[in-house]
Amino acid sequence: MGKVSTRDIRKLKGTRPVVCVTAYDSTMAGLASEAGIDLILVGDTLGPMQLGFETTVPVTVPMMLQAASSVVRAKPNSLVVADIPFGVVRRSTDYVLEVCCRFMQEAGVDAVKIEGGEDLAPVIATLTASGVPVLGHIGLLPQQVYQLGGYRKFGKTEEQRVQLIRDAQALEQAGVFAIVCEMVAAETATAVSEAIGVPTIGIGSGVGCDGQVLVSTDMLGLTSGYVPSFVKQYANLRSTIADAFKSYASDVRERKFPS
Ligand code: KIV
Repeated sequence: MGKVSTRDIRKLKGTRPVVCVTAYDSTMAGLASEAGIDLILVGDTLGPMQLGFETTVPVTVPMMLQAASSVVRAKPNSLVVADIPFGVVRRSTDYVLEVCCRFMQEAGVDAVKIEGGEDLAPVIATLTASGVPVLGHIGLLPQQVYQLGGYRKFGKTEEQRVQLIRDAQALEQAGVFAIVCEMVAAETATAVSEAIGVPTIGIGSGVGCDGQVLVSTDMLGLTSGYVPSFVKQYANLRSTIADAFKSYASDVRERKFPS
């Protein structure tokens, strides 16, 4: 398989689901690429999953640039998309463009992801017109966790359903190549997917989306704290690693290693 482009992702709509996972370093990115994952998201879940923060809010541009550069150095065939972290997109359009260009030029990512709906469409339109491919993100926006007062499901009421469809259509008009739908009620996520011509990539949003994304540490059984109930765990790496460390410690203490 050759390098996946944003065009390839767009063309998957209506053919087969887009498969995405998060990765924060070269090791995981290399493994995801070898497994044929279509899109690697260098998510700002970097904060809670790798850096010990409670939320994604403390994650900064330099932290994300370092993680994105590490992922790109694996030379994955998967499309690499970096999250634009908290505090960037509500500043001037010039500043947002400057930060996105840093992700493309310094880290070498293929695209960026921006959390937000209709209100951000003008900024996103400027980015896409400037040659920055953008992955949208609607529904639960974890960067707004302090305003929301916690993580919850979106699109349960008619008003929210209508707004989510408007958000998705505005983002499509602004030129995004796909849209992440996080924690959107399944029926609404299906309606959003049917209302637009670019793929929706669901997380906790049911089977009606055009693709799925999972946080790699959650699906691999590496996360130490809370794991959302919609996650399917495909491995239990925490116990595998803990057992390996214990065996190593006992081998060293009992002088069985080195032999
Ligand atoms: O930061 C992230 O990992 C994300 C996914 C949860 C979609 O935005």
